[in-house]
Amino acid sequence: MTTTPTVEQVQEALAGVSDPEIKRPITELGMVKSVDVGADGRVAVEVYLTVAGCPMKDTITRDVKAAVGALEGVSDVSVGLDVMSEEQRKELQSSLRGGQQTKEIPFSRPDSLTKIYAIASGKGGVGKSSVTVNLAVSMAAQGLKVGVVDADIYGHSVPAMLGVADMRPTQVEDMIMPVPVHGLQVISVGMLKPRRDQVVAWRGPMLDRALVQMLSDVYWGDLDILLLDLPPGTGDMAISLGQHLVNSEVIVVTTPQQAAAEVAERAGTMASMMHQRVAGIIENMSFLPCPHCGPEHRLEIFGAGGGDQVARTLSERFGYDVPVLSRVPIDERLRAGGDDGQPLVLQDVDSPAADALRGTAADLTNRGRGLAGMQLGLTPAGR
Ligand SMILES: Nc1ncnc2c1ncn2[C@@H]1O[C@H](COP(=O)(O)OP(=O)(O)OP(=O)(O)O)[C@@H](O)[C@H]1O
Ligand SMILES: [Mg+2]
Ligand SMILES: [Zn+2]
Repeated sequence: MTTTPTVEQVQEALAGVSDPEIKRPITELGMVKSVDVGADGRVAVEVYLTVAGCPMKDTITRDVKAAVGALEGVSDVSVGLDVMSEEQRKELQSSLRGGQQTKEIPFSRPDSLTKIYAIASGKGGVGKSSVTVNLAVSMAAQGLKVGVVDADIYGHSVPAMLGVADMRPTQVEDMIMPVPVHGLQVISVGMLKPRRDQVVAWRGPMLDRALVQMLSDVYWGDLDILLLDLPPGTGDMAISLGQHLVNSEVIVVTTPQQAAAEVAERAGTMASMMHQRVAGIIENMSFLPCPHCGPEHRLEIFGAGGGDQVARTLSERFGYDVPVLSRVPIDERLRAGGDDGQPLVLQDVDSPAADALRGTAADLTNRGRGLAGMQLGLTPAGR
């Protein structure tokens, strides 16, 4: 005959259930309101949600049922939901901040272990967002904790490419939970706007505030990697990034076209002026694999040599090696994956474009952190 589990055993099982957004055990977060074990093996668990109508409530309910249901002697699990009081939320917020009341950008602490890559380009439409989401998903698939900041105030296409265009982040007091998807966490400047159709004229100080908000008001936890999709060009957002995340590195995306390459060089130079190291170049839409002969025959639809040109120019200018990290072919499935919210690297895993992006993701995560945060270039005015 089986005996029913003790309340402690149920608590232990619940310690294996994490809040999907905060990624910490619900027992640690003060989210377990009560546990009741009946003589017949029926277990009733009451859970505090951080906010009413939490979008993650079904996930939490399912995970609690699975964890407790797996215990020996449990015949049934019921999950009741309650909502934290303001007091409890404040407590949670302060414990998540490590007791600190003032906000800070955790990634700019000297002891931060998060590697930060900003994806930049001189001009729009070269594939920055596509590159960002596919790198991010590849890195998450390696088992790394990955955060993505969509800092492109004009485009904010990253959520759509990940399939969460309509998701709104959960807010606990003034702390914002990034949206979990495909094993990573994402926040978009578009999610912070009150309404999606709102048209805002973003000026420097507003951009700066939006970036700081995405870095300090958002609870990221301990990330291995943070990727930022920047707006095209060398504008205010690039300056803010350089000021707030001095230890970030920049990846410049360009097409093989000469004109695009020249503009891309400016984005690289800008990064260097802001003390950021340029980790390398990704040449996107590099070639079209010939539909007749196969990938050995490369049709150079957008010209050739752009990636090499940017790499050579920036290497000479900075005095360190700026490599071409990858050449990503033109692939209709890459576009389709973006439109469907199913990134290519998860779909057509063996396609040459997915291979190229996955390879670059592995290169970037294998690098030591020694070179990050190297002080390069000029001191920007006003610091
Ligand atoms: N290698 C590729 N092959 C085929 N289509 C691609 C490729 N890279 C990007 N695209 C498509 O090109 C379009 C532009 O890409 P994306 O939105 O990633 O560029 P972006 O640089 O972020 O643009 P923006 O400046 O507007 O933010 C998208 O429709 C995308 O699906
Ligand atoms: Mg974009
Ligand atoms: Zn051919």
